[in-house]
Amino acid sequence: MQADPLYRCWEAVCDEAGGPVHTIYLSPCGHTFRQADAIRLSRLENLILVCGHYEGIDQRFIDECVDEEISLGDFVLTGGEIAAMAVTDAVCRMVPGVLADPECFEDESHFNGLLEYPQYSRPAVWHGREVPAILLSGNHEKVRQWRRKQALRRTRQRRPDMYEKLDLSSKQDRKLLKEMEAEDHEQSGDLETVD
Ligand SMILES: C[S@@+](CC[C@H](N)C(=O)[O-])C[C@H]1O[C@@H](n2cnc3c(N)ncnc32)[C@H](O)[C@@H]1O
Repeated sequence: MQADPLYRCWEAVCDEAGGPVHTIYLSPCGHTFRQADAIRLSRLENLILVCGHYEGIDQRFIDECVDEEISLGDFVLTGGEIAAMAVTDAVCRMVPGVLADPECFEDESHFNGLLEYPQYSRPAVWHGREVPAILLSGNHEKVRQWRRKQALRRTRQRRPDMYEKLDLSSKQDRKLLKEMEAEDHEQSGDLETVD
């Protein structure tokens, strides 16, 4: 895509905003978008998201107007719009007031370097599958610990790269890790018995 039509559009949007606007080009050559980027970008007053098509955008526009290039992942889309929508959604839900309560996102995957624990809803038994009893106990502290343990276990299993970066030195986490080890050990014993 040519530099000049994009430049004139970019300039008009900046004029309307009353000054320079942080400008992102959605591109497979950019840095991979992460939750930390969503949080960082949610603190900016305005954003311009530039979507390419065809082979992309004239490098001179990028050099002159773009502050950062963001990729949605290691694959190629036909245009930047879907990437821009994904970035917009992830950024907007971090803006204070968009979600009812910060707890809505603080527990979610990637906010604190963890994957989220499994979620359950009603009914308590579905197709013979039960909601874990602890979640029906009404004991909030036990539920909180169960969730933390499940999040740690899931992150360790699915994303060892994330797990490695966690600080698990607190007394509570060390206790949960010990419990996990004992449970894993017990489970592997069960498997041996089955063999
Ligand atoms: C067909 S792609 C161009 C790919 C480019 N020629 C390349 O090989 O890097 C057209 C546009 O889709 C958008 N796009 C494609 N893949 C993307 C990704 N992984 N993340 C963000 N935007 C992407 C970009 O805006 C890009 O300019």
